[in-house]
Amino acid sequence: MQGKRFLITSALPYANGPIHFGHLVGAYLSADVYNRHKKLQGEKSLFICGSDEHGVAIMLNAKKAGIGYQEYVDKWHKEHGEVFNKYGVEFDFFGQTSAPYHAEETVKWFHELNERGFIGPQDSQQLYCNDCHNHLPDRFVEGTCYVCDYDSARGDECPNCGEFIDPVRLKEPVCKICGSQNIKEVTVTQYYLLLSKYHKEFREWFESKKGDWRKTVWPYVDSLTKEELKDRAITRDLDWGIDVPLEGTEGKKLYVWFDAPIGYVSNTKEALKGSDEDYLKDWWQNPDTELTHFIGKDNIIFHTIIFPTMSMASGKAKPADHVPANQFLNLEGRQFSKSTGHYVDALDAVDEFGQTALRYYLLSILPESTDSSFSWDQFQAKVNNELANNIGNFLNRCLKFTQKHWAEGMPADYYQAFLSTENCQEIGRDLEELNGLLDQQSFKKGIEKVMAMGNKANNYFSDQAPWALIKENKDEAGKVLAASSIYALCLGVAMAPFLPELSSNILKHFDNILEEKSVSEIYSGKLDILSSLFADGHHLKEAVNALVPKISDEIISARKENLLN
Ligand code: 2FM
Ligand code: ZN
Repeated sequence: MQGKRFLITSALPYANGPIHFGHLVGAYLSADVYNRHKKLQGEKSLFICGSDEHGVAIMLNAKKAGIGYQEYVDKWHKEHGEVFNKYGVEFDFFGQTSAPYHAEETVKWFHELNERGFIGPQDSQQLYCNDCHNHLPDRFVEGTCYVCDYDSARGDECPNCGEFIDPVRLKEPVCKICGSQNIKEVTVTQYYLLLSKYHKEFREWFESKKGDWRKTVWPYVDSLTKEELKDRAITRDLDWGIDVPLEGTEGKKLYVWFDAPIGYVSNTKEALKGSDEDYLKDWWQNPDTELTHFIGKDNIIFHTIIFPTMSMASGKAKPADHVPANQFLNLEGRQFSKSTGHYVDALDAVDEFGQTALRYYLLSILPESTDSSFSWDQFQAKVNNELANNIGNFLNRCLKFTQKHWAEGMPADYYQAFLSTENCQEIGRDLEELNGLLDQQSFKKGIEKVMAMGNKANNYFSDQAPWALIKENKDEAGKVLAASSIYALCLGVAMAPFLPELSSNILKHFDNILEEKSVSEIYSGKLDILSSLFADGHHLKEAVNALVPKISDEIISARKENLLN
């Protein structure tokens, strides 16, 4: 028995364009909070991600950019790494699906599924361009949708009605590689993942998730899979991707959605290189592992049906325990759209407003149960009123006042006096409740809880008015300040999963008494530790009071004008 461990994945972003706020709230910020939370609890956790680098959409854009596929995906991989870094999304590993280690792992999965009878060839009708001599799967072809008559339906999906498209049924198909309409239908053999064979076992596993999964996830998957699972083609005739590892299949590659989720596994293997742990035995096949896939709602089918079936049918990995799919985020009530300019560049925004302000607002509007919307006015109001005025103001006043009047430090009895009070016990209970919320992956309520703790600290400070008290009784004022320092310390710890930069700025004032273990104890609400931490009193360290600056009206107006409506 190795003890419980947490394997956390975020949807691998396509290396095919910028990451915007919608992506960040969809699959990355909450995963980062969960990973930080587990690590703070002293649990063993691994947070795995990487770039998703195959598929037709990437091929088309690389061709458009006039560069090779590898160069194209490398460029986006680097930029995405920079965005995650600036937003404080701290993966334990961020790999690439174009890397050889990933192909190696994917091929193992293919063989295992094939040997167990879950992969088989089937003839299918496909489109072929007579002018540029390319097969036209997925987005290589566009035409008029046979369901809604929208004239730019893609070969995989109609963006207008959402229909999963069979490309040979598209009306007036056009080749997206050369623009030709000289297209014919050909019969091609492709390999299929025989999901239909696993329907019974899939349903048995899936039923066990009923009470646990979100209301936006379970019923949707239930209705899709009640009657049957449909076989899916997992090969394509392309020149970019992982070669199909069978004889007589030259020119065929594995479909991007077959290899992408295996990226979670191959990247885990890479993450553990040099350690004494085995990525399968200790993690992916370990019954003590709790596996959570953080995704946006457009990825539900692959993470709740196809990848779990691939995992169970192959025996390679355990299926997901949790799939807390988020709904979509809009921008000022409408979809983000780079082409129309209704868009915010995430890198540019974090350079202007900083990580803390953006993480705070984005986490407070997480679309956990319904779609939500980013609004510049609301961003300004929440940052200014809640972060800067409330929390920032309390921290500033408390820390500066203490440094000014007790520059030489405060005696132990000032702190001890607070530790047995109801107020202090309430902090402990709040921390325990916060742990409960995050254990249940309820992130929006989690950040609300932290803000409520901040309000209590602020109210305590204002009610006790130490600036007035000090004129009459310095000892009493000192006790209020010591209590406020404890509030600040606990608030800094509680914030750590959500606002790591602000948290670390607060905790720097206490780093002469804190160790990783004591932070973990405080985080879990076991405040008895405070008594030994403050046993010799405390000298509040001088540290940069880098709290959250207010955002001006001018900046917000300029941002709003930038959205070309
Ligand atoms: O929707 C997307 O952005 C996909 N690239 C997600 C892949 S998730 C996983 F399966 F790799
Ligand atoms: Zn063509």
